[in-house]
Amino acid sequence: MTLRHPLDGGAVERFRHLLEPALREAVSALHPWGAKMAAFAMGWSDVDGRPQGGDGGKGLRPAIAMLSAEAVGAPARSALPGAVAVELVHVFSLVHDDIIDNDERRRHRDALWKAYGVGPALLAGDGLLALAVSRLAGQPEASRYLSRALVELVQGQMADMVNENRPWRGTDRVGAAEYAEMAAGKTGALLAASAATGVVLGGAPELGERMWAAGRDLGVAFQIADDILGIWGEPQITGKPVHSDLQREKKTLPVLAALDAGNTAARELSAVLAAGITDEQAARHAAELVEAAGGRAAARSAADRYLARALEVIDDCLPDAAELRALCKSLVNRVT
Ligand code: IPE
Ligand code: IPE
Ligand code: MG
Ligand code: MG
Repeated sequence: MTLRHPLDGGAVERFRHLLEPALREAVSALHPWGAKMAAFAMGWSDVDGRPQGGDGGKGLRPAIAMLSAEAVGAPARSALPGAVAVELVHVFSLVHDDIIDNDERRRHRDALWKAYGVGPALLAGDGLLALAVSRLAGQPEASRYLSRALVELVQGQMADMVNENRPWRGTDRVGAAEYAEMAAGKTGALLAASAATGVVLGGAPELGERMWAAGRDLGVAFQIADDILGIWGEPQITGKPVHSDLQREKKTLPVLAALDAGNTAARELSAVLAAGITDEQAARHAAELVEAAGGRAAARSAADRYLARALEVIDDCLPDAAELRALCKSLVNRVT
């Protein structure tokens, strides 16, 4: 897994020699066509299957799993099946998510559906999901957390989609609490499973539920940061589109917070959104108004609050988790 833009790079780099061979081994069980698509999604090969060192993502979820195991005194390797499973689920979710969101770029290259077609990408995603589940077949407790994450992830993605068609204003608008619930599902659940499987496989199942809760809050902070990057990020750095969330009327926290500000910029934003964001110019204008209304700063503060809540639990459960702590802290002001 190549890390062009490490978060708190140390841990992720340190685990690479464990993780990548294990992921490659897992993916090799797929039909060769599925393995080829998976290798593209993972950044190991180009679209024709020629080996290359592309952007394989930040490797956040496996790092959380392995650092959590280390923090309970176990070797990182003990959490490897969990680390592999959560990364496979993550990549599956990205592959399907880009179809859902109609986004054409991922990790600095074409989204899988764009490169191979929607049907093949759906199948490749299904294959990754099946492999993930099989990784934890012999580990009932870890498996339970993964299954819980899968149900919540799909629920969160459904809420995210339904929210696109809900109004920005009025009684049916999406509130901040509802946003957090959606983000906790679509993103928090898998970070929760990463942390929980890490401690479970590291031999401390009694910490599973609390680490689940910490991971869930961390995931909400992570999603808020992602939503900020979706409006003000640099595609050359993030490797994925900017302004696509605005054009799809995604109910992201920066926009929701801006609309709630009740100032002049908020009122102007409301009018711009009501007219529809149909081109890049309108999206840029909306982004400026969200910032002027205070939506970006409010979202950033909310991310800090969720992070702080996660860290409180982590500190309590895992007093020797300096690296995990540093990784978590690097998530909210990342640029990719
Ligand atoms: C992107 O996750 C999807 C979200 C849950 C916001 P990452 O930002 O961890 O994606 P990669 O793995 O680094 O590409
Ligand atoms: C990601 O939400 C959620 C999952 C992949 C489950 P986003 O739709 O915001 O993620 P990006 O921005 O496409 O990576
Ligand atoms: Mg998306
Ligand atoms: Mg996003």
